[in-house]
Amino acid sequence: MDEQYRSIVNSALSIEEEIISWRRDFHKHPELGFEEKRTSSIVSDALYLMGFEVSDGIGGTGVVARIRGDEAGPVRGLRADMDALPMKEETGLPYASIYDGIMHACCHDGHVAMLLGVAKLLAERKGELKGEVVLIFQPGEEGFAGAKKMLEEGLLEKFPMDFLFGHHIMPVILPHKSITTRKNVFTANSDRFYMEIKGKGGHASIPHLVKDPLPGLGQMIGAINTLVSRNIDPFEEAVISIGQVHAGSTENIIPDSALISGSVRTFTDEVQQRIFRRLGEISEGIGKTNGLDISYEYKFNYPSLINDPDLTEQVLDLGRGFCEEVIEKENPFTGSEDFSFFSREIPSCFIMLGAHGTEGVHHPKMTFDESVLAWGAAWQSYLAIRSGEDDFQKS
Ligand code: NI
Repeated sequence: MDEQYRSIVNSALSIEEEIISWRRDFHKHPELGFEEKRTSSIVSDALYLMGFEVSDGIGGTGVVARIRGDEAGPVRGLRADMDALPMKEETGLPYASIYDGIMHACCHDGHVAMLLGVAKLLAERKGELKGEVVLIFQPGEEGFAGAKKMLEEGLLEKFPMDFLFGHHIMPVILPHKSITTRKNVFTANSDRFYMEIKGKGGHASIPHLVKDPLPGLGQMIGAINTLVSRNIDPFEEAVISIGQVHAGSTENIIPDSALISGSVRTFTDEVQQRIFRRLGEISEGIGKTNGLDISYEYKFNYPSLINDPDLTEQVLDLGRGFCEEVIEKENPFTGSEDFSFFSREIPSCFIMLGAHGTEGVHHPKMTFDESVLAWGAAWQSYLAIRSGEDDFQKS
């Protein structure tokens, strides 16, 4: 264990109470995507008081702060997401959400508190810092593509960075105080599709005088469920799940139309494009066969997150010197994460921090062991400082 690491861990432990109190305050006052006004103003004020250059309002409620070291070096970023989820908290914690139906169930309260801790630690260690560190507090990760919005509003033009790191606390599924990442694809492309099958309804006794959408619906369900097995290389992977089917109102009426929607998870853009195209061809073909008009909409949601392989190798190496358990994951996560938008623009590495907990993320009873916070702040500070050194490979 090197001296610098030991010293950073001690400093982090000395501010642990403050990090935890930030986290509990954010937990008690969760805010949904692009509504993180209270959170971002606390973040912005705290950073200003620590002596950072602070820019508010990038991507709505986003906050970006920069600290420059005394010597020249690369510019690297650290990102935390700030938003909560529209769900009712059932943890029974003394600092549980005071807002009915809004909960920090994805650890973003912890991410913000940890990154404020990092800010404090880096401000104390400005003399050890080479180059610059940019701290990004991002709004709207949970379905709002806040990362994309920050990019559209000129994040990289205002803060050009050489590389970027993102962190997510992951309770239950990963060991406490462990670091997990993966080279290349880390999370899935997560998309949605919607189809409306339009026919002409009427009495169930006169099928020859109507255009029944239901046989088309049945064929569509069958075709979608064989799309992966008949169109995708067995050594590649994809998941298509139909999540909704709606049609009809009673037993003796043929309905006018039917609706079908589902989700698609893929790990390469090539497979994603093939599924997007095939779903369109199938809906057109089934429409023609049955004399139905089928509208098809494919919503490209979050792209897959691509970790830069060289940068990730460096992170894994550094991690092995920092904690006992560093996991280089064999397969990508099937979940999605909008850090992916950054990863498509700039060499990036996204890292999971394992934690003890009661339930996994997005569960109303999810809690995590707060000792991960000071530890995670120490790790991110160590990463921020060490990745400015000359021996850290710049991708
Ligand atoms: Ni999350």
